[in-house]
This record gives sequence, structure tokens and C-alpha cells, in this order.
Amino acid sequence: MCGIVGYVGQRPSNLSTRPVDVALQGLARLEYRGYDSAGVAVLEDDGVRIAKKEGKLKNLRDALDGEEVSASAVAIGHTRWATHGAPTDGNAHPHLGGKDDELALVHNGIIENFAPLRAELESEGFVFRSETDSEVAAHLVAREMSLTGDLTTAMRAAVNQLEGAFTLLAVHRLSPDRVVAARRNSPLVVGLGEGENFLGSDVAAFVDNTREALEVGQDQIVTVTADDVVISDFSGTEITEQKRYTIEWDVAAAQKGGYDSFMAKEIHEQATAVADTLLGRIDSGALHLDEMSIDESVLRSVDKIVVVACGTAANAGSVAKYAIEHWCRIPTEVELAHEFRYRDPVVTEKTLVVAISQSGETMDTLMAMRHAQEQGAKVVAICNTHGSTIPREADAALYLHVGPEIAVASTKAYLGQITACYLLGLYLAQVRGNLFPDEIAALMEDLEQLPTHVQTVLDGAAEVEELARSMKDAASVLFLGRHVGYPTAMEGALKLKEIAYIHAEGFAAGELKHGPIALVEEGQPVFVIVPSPRGRDSLHSKVVSNIQEIRARGARTLVIAEDGDDDVLPYSDVVLRVPRTRTLFAPLLTIIPLQIFSCELATAKGLDVDQPRNLAKSVTVE
Ligand code: F6R
Repeated sequence: MCGIVGYVGQRPSNLSTRPVDVALQGLARLEYRGYDSAGVAVLEDDGVRIAKKEGKLKNLRDALDGEEVSASAVAIGHTRWATHGAPTDGNAHPHLGGKDDELALVHNGIIENFAPLRAELESEGFVFRSETDSEVAAHLVAREMSLTGDLTTAMRAAVNQLEGAFTLLAVHRLSPDRVVAARRNSPLVVGLGEGENFLGSDVAAFVDNTREALEVGQDQIVTVTADDVVISDFSGTEITEQKRYTIEWDVAAAQKGGYDSFMAKEIHEQATAVADTLLGRIDSGALHLDEMSIDESVLRSVDKIVVVACGTAANAGSVAKYAIEHWCRIPTEVELAHEFRYRDPVVTEKTLVVAISQSGETMDTLMAMRHAQEQGAKVVAICNTHGSTIPREADAALYLHVGPEIAVASTKAYLGQITACYLLGLYLAQVRGNLFPDEIAALMEDLEQLPTHVQTVLDGAAEVEELARSMKDAASVLFLGRHVGYPTAMEGALKLKEIAYIHAEGFAAGELKHGPIALVEEGQPVFVIVPSPRGRDSLHSKVVSNIQEIRARGARTLVIAEDGDDDVLPYSDVVLRVPRTRTLFAPLLTIIPLQIFSCELATAKGLDVDQPRNLAKSVTVE
């Protein structure tokens, strides 16, 4: 939610990239975080200069085209997901601060006490030109700078007056060699170069330029010059133990690689994504989770698991519930993170909380996890983004290793999350002795087959794409599933809503006759995820009956069934096949046709698949 970049450095003149170009390059990588407006600020000889435009980054680039921008050493940039104030040029960042516009600032997050601060600053003669909460921070830092003359001290004095969540980056006319940044409950990382340094909301901001990064902790201030990075806390104590790491993602991972969209590319990376999540964690049939830094005795005492997550990550958690309860016999709840802490949940020292988040920055999930920790619960984070807040604050972190997910709609991270949940479930079963070693080995052997099966489904993409193109004018699509097919139905519907803007709903197939069947009329398309005929009890035949029930009422039945399941043929208008696997592993396969369907349908409608309206990749506000 909002992307922030900062750059300090003087590139050799044979490199045409000026600081403003480095900032624009970083913004292009971060645009998935928000695209309501974009802006940059540079320091020129006569002061701070800003350029900002409503809409996507292209508008800013067009506005800057042909403009003379100085080659000063410092630039900051921002791509916005609007919270306070409409997405207009005026509300775009950077904001100027001070009575002589001597400072520029960008902000990610929400400043909760902006109203009294704004009133105070206005009474002192500071002039506000936007409706944003962020402009308060610009004037505050500028005011403190006029008192202290040191940008770091000014930033510290300002952040100590702010309530809420923020990452701030500021540049000032009187400190032309530096960018000063601060973070509280909002992401910020430092990129380390040779004679140049970078700041970003995440590493994508600078991965084109360096793969060496530095974590910035909660409530810390960073002062970045071309040759130095100094980190201190909000009380002024310097942080000497800095956490440096090398980014594994390469630049190619942040490019489309011949696909029309990042989403299409990421869908087609899913066989590798599952393989990479499993990599190094299975050895001769035994499961190794070195990063599970929670004591085994604590894991043995767990009497309840609560998964907290949002959106797609919550759907991955719903799959986890079926697997963990089945393998470990531990009651498992899945709770939308934003609902969790407000209902006074029962959490004890014996509760294990699993926080699932691709970005590792989702504020709702972070707050839910902190609430659980305050009650004494241990938290395992399942995340994709290294150095992000959720895994850093968790008691243990399982990383997905699926590479950067750029498209706003989550796909490969979903498969990675489900795979990581399987690993966690099997690990708990191993530690607690719920399954025999040979049972775990057999399960893991089957799990290792999944990348091949995922590839088989991907190889059949053309058939699904043709179906999607033929349905581009659909007004509503329903999705039905049962058992682990239910989260798949929810996720399939979410994908279609968010990128194709089509009304879509996922239902538990058994719930149909309790109300939703009233929606079915002649020609209504309904995807049905059919469980394996070799699966539990009579689930398969019940779902086949559901297909008959909706077809009798005119539904167009689009059926996802495993290879060889011919029972569905008489009642299906379309059958999409997935390879055979264990029932609990099927969600890794059955979602793929639905992802391809949404992606292709949105493309056929001419929509921006990677940057759907009103959304942002990383939701860092509550
Ligand atoms: C949907 C989607 C969102 C995210 C949700 C949680 O395609 O991407 O629903 O899954 O906002 O995000 P993370 O996983 O970053 O916490």
C-alpha cells in the first residue's frame, strides 16, 4: 500500500541515470503497491523540486518527458494508494513542507492524529495544499528542522509527535547530501550500493541496482548518504547491530519474461513455486524445518491452532485447517485477521497462531498476531517477503521462496502458502507423534510429485483460456466446492471479482440448498470443484448430485474433476481435468484452471490484469 523509494549517490557521467531516473525505475517496480498517483522530488541548487501526477506512473513519466531535471545526488519517489483525500495531483506525494517549501516528504501509512496537528500547524502559519494526513508530517519535520538544523534530529522530534502507522522519507534544501527516513508499523528497507544507497518499501525498489540489503526495525530512523547508512531509534540511540542480507530474487524475476502480464507469468511459475517451497525441507523421507525455532515441547503442548490471514492467504489457511486437523488432531480455526482481535478471542499460551501473509506487511494480520502474542501465544509466520515485519516479529518464520509476486492478484504465493501449510502440518504431526514416520514419508513422497502435476495442469491452459474468452460477457459466475474444494471455490471467485470485475461467489456445495440455489437460472455459469471419487466417504457422489441439482435448474456446469472421473460426464457442459492426487493435496491443482480463467477473461475484456482498480498489493493500513 503505497510504494516509497529513496536514492542518494552520484553516478559517473557515462551512466545516464540521474537520481530522478533511479527513483522512477524504483517506482516502476513498486507500482503494484498502489497506482492512484505518482511523484518524485529532487534537490536542485535553488531548492526542492517536485513533480507529481494523478493516475499511473506513465502520467508522471509523460509530464517529466523533455523536462530538465538536475543531476543532484538525491531523489525520493512515491506511488500512492489513496487513503485520505481523492487521487488528485494535489493529494499526490511528495508533499512540500515548511514556510518556504524547503522540504519534501513522502509517506506510506496513516497518521491518526493528523487533525489536531494540522490545526496547530495552521495556527502557526503553515499553509496546507492537500487533503492528506501526510502533509502534516512534511510541515512537522520542516518546523523541527528550522529549530534544530539537523534533519535526523528533526525527523526524530516529528515522529515522536505522530500516532499511527508510517514510513516517511524526507529531503531538505539545507541537507543536500541525504535522505532521512523513519518507520513505524509500515515497511522500509535499505539497499546498499557502491558510493550510492537506496531506500524502498521493499527490495523490488532497488533490486535492479543492488542485491545487498539492510533491515530497518520498528521505530527506527535511517540517515542515508552516498557512503553511509546510520540507523537510530526514536529516542536517539544508534543501532549498531544491523541486519544485513543478500536478496535472492534476481532482476528477471521482476520482469514479465514474455508474458502479457505478471499474473500470467506468475501462474505459469507455479510448478517451480511449489518445488521451491519444498526445496531443502525433505530429506530421505524426513521433514526438516530448520527455521521452526519454537521449542518442540511448546509445540507438543499446543491445544488449539488459529490461522490469521486475509484474502487469498486466508483461503490458503482454510485449506490448512483440513490438513492440520486431519494429520495432527489439533482443533484449528481460520479467522480473517481483521475480525480476530476485535471479538476478544480465546487465546492462551497453548494456542499456536499461524499468520499467513505473502507480503509480510498486511496490517490486519500483523495486529492480529501481536494481539495473540500479548496473550502468550506463539506465532509461526508463513511469508514470502524477506525482512518484512510479520516474519521478523513472529516466533518462527517459514518462507515460501516463490520469488517476488508482482501482480496484485495472488497466485503463486497461494500455492506456496498451501505447500508451506502442509509442511507445517506434517512437521507438527512428526513432533507430536500423530503420524508414523512411514506415513509422513509416504505423504511427502506424494507432495514431491505435486510440481509435476501442477505443470500438467498448466500445460492444459489453452483449453481454459478458450473457455474464458467465450465467457467474457458473463455477468455472474458461481463457484461450488466441498471439503478442501470449498476454499478453492472461494479463491476462484475472489480471483474473478478482483481482476475481471465480474460478480462471483464461492459456496460450500452443501450449502446450496439452504439458499444460494435460488440464484441459479437458465444459463448461469457454475464452476464445480469435484472431490476425488477415491476420497472420503460419499463426498464425491454428493457433489455429483449437486451438479445434477443445478443443471436441472438451467445452470451451465463447468466441472473441475480428476483424470478418469467419468461420473461427472453426463452432467457437465465443460470438464476441466486435473491429475490424480490425495484429496488433501488437490487444492494445489484445482485452483489453477480458475486462476487461468480469470486472468484470460480479464485480458479479453481489455482490463489491466496486474493492477486492478481500487486495489493494492500490500495492505498496510487497517
Ligand atoms: C488476492 C490478494 C489479497 C491478499 C491479501 C493478503 O489476490 O492478493 O487478497 O491475499 O490482501 O495479503 P498478504 O498475503 O500480503 O498478507
